[in-house]
Amino acid sequence: KPSPRLDVAKIKGIMLQKLSCENWERIWSFQAQPDDLLIATYPKAGTTWIQEIVDMVIHGGDPAMCQRAPIHLRHPFIELRCPNIPSGLELAEAMPPPRILKTHLPVQLLPPSFWEKDCKIIYVARNAKDNLVSYYHFQQMNRALPHPGTWAQYFEKFLAGEVPWGPWHDHVKDWWEAREHQRILYLFYEDMKKDPAHEIQKVMTFLEKDLGEDAKEKIIGHTSFQAMKENPMTNYCALPWFDHSVSPFIRKGTVGDWKTHFTVEQNERFDEDYRTKMVGTSLNFCNEL
Ligand code: PPS
Repeated sequence: KPSPRLDVAKIKGIMLQKLSCENWERIWSFQAQPDDLLIATYPKAGTTWIQEIVDMVIHGGDPAMCQRAPIHLRHPFIELRCPNIPSGLELAEAMPPPRILKTHLPVQLLPPSFWEKDCKIIYVARNAKDNLVSYYHFQQMNRALPHPGTWAQYFEKFLAGEVPWGPWHDHVKDWWEAREHQRILYLFYEDMKKDPAHEIQKVMTFLEKDLGEDAKEKIIGHTSFQAMKENPMTNYCALPWFDHSVSPFIRKGTVGDWKTHFTVEQNERFDEDYRTKMVGTSLNFCNEL
């Protein structure tokens, strides 16, 4: 019998898993190390994809090295706490340096040691509409998060920012601004789809690992949608909280899937709300969707 869904609560107005909120003091005082690399994203923006790319780059383009463990064990998810699996903090604290860490926290909730130690950070952003669609399917299949309700209900929750890890708009904008004072490589899911070689080159340069064309080709192949969907080390097939029969974790991997979900009216409402919330930022998303 599947266990019931986990609860959520709030820290400084941001919805997070209740178990993370209960452990907030420890998460907030997490000790980052100067050679930690942090992968930060809003949920469903392409986290797992960039994680696998980074892992391949760090390991010289050798896919065998990336088979050493499932991705959630290779790159601790610092704020995650779920029954029956090791917490992100436990995994991170037990891992020898240099560590690759994952977070979905908004800028204001990132443990301060990441700023103090001047850690490198890679942020990936995805256009809001596809991000919303992907999150809707994810909350259906992930019992560690609340059920999303109907599509119409979830659409409203997303606009109101009443979803785990808070509002999308502030998340992408605040991380964009953080580039001004931190070593942040800010990437876009849509660019990764359009020209993976170009974006992988940016990662190599940022990590000071210029591996050459052969390695780049290997990385592109190993991190393609199909390869990652079939790879048990990246497709989260063993995580007990996920029910892939409801929706696979590596689901569709396209740009523009929102068109099969949004009604005309929802699209108009979304655009109007988007204009208000994104006014004044220099952050621009590719609109060729
Ligand atoms: S999580 O739970 O926040 O870590 O999820 P995240 O990995 O950020 O997002 C999952 C979405 O990314 C898609 N994905 C990919 N797209 C293209 N290429 C590759 N290699 C790839 N790997 C994962 C995945 O399918 C989810 O998007 P949707 O739109 O739901 O398919």
